[in-house]
Amino acid sequence: MLVEVVDNYEKLSDRAAEVVIQQIREKPDSTLGFATGGTPKGLYNRLIEAHEESGLDFSKLTTFNLDEYVGLPPEHEQSYARYMWSTLFNHVNVTESQVHIPHGMAEDVNSHCQWYERRIEEAGGIDLQILGIGANGHIAFNEPGSSLGSRTRIKTLASKTVRDNARYFEDQDMVPEYAITMGVGTIMEADEVLLLASGERKAEAMKKTLEGHITAMTPASMVQMHRFAHVVIDEEAASELDYQHHHGIVEPKDE
Ligand code: PGA
Repeated sequence: MLVEVVDNYEKLSDRAAEVVIQQIREKPDSTLGFATGGTPKGLYNRLIEAHEESGLDFSKLTTFNLDEYVGLPPEHEQSYARYMWSTLFNHVNVTESQVHIPHGMAEDVNSHCQWYERRIEEAGGIDLQILGIGANGHIAFNEPGSSLGSRTRIKTLASKTVRDNARYFEDQDMVPEYAITMGVGTIMEADEVLLLASGERKAEAMKKTLEGHITAMTPASMVQMHRFAHVVIDEEAASELDYQHHHGIVEPKDE
């Protein structure tokens, strides 16, 4: 694992943008995996800037998102489809045919999930998957207890996740309890995963992820098994770590 600890959220967004921009420049027809949530917003702003200021070209990419709420149509303001279009895709040269986001209103959820897996395969697999982490150690909507070999499927959200999300919904009856999510196994097949975490709220989860046992109770800990996990976290998210990281070398903090 390459773990980079940076000062703060701004630096984290700068560093993540460097990695993604380099990927797009080196391989303009890359398949990229995108994540939603608060963490990648700074990264997405920088990608928009790179498009506007230096013509970063998104037109040959294929994209896959990690997850979507069941029961929300793509135009719902809390859907992840809406998030992706308003936060990034509407501001760069991406068209709908390049974009894949699980459909929250799919009639036959199971066959939709299988179709999603096939599309990833047909695209040649994901070159670079951007990932956030939940305070409970989830990745995408793979909550604690998720099989580490899981594939795209419907999942019940943990009650903590439902509570964390409730503040975004005016109508509490609309707060989703299910999501379609890529599985831990699906995510780990990406050639590179770029895991981002910022703030003290993530410190415990990052300690378990990087220094704990690999366990379904911390699905993010599966990054320890990945052939190229690139982790960029800020000082606060790294504050519970017992080890320090320099250029891939891991040493106890008191040495
Ligand atoms: P956040 O969510 O970036 O909004 O903290 C990350 C996640 O829950 O996966």
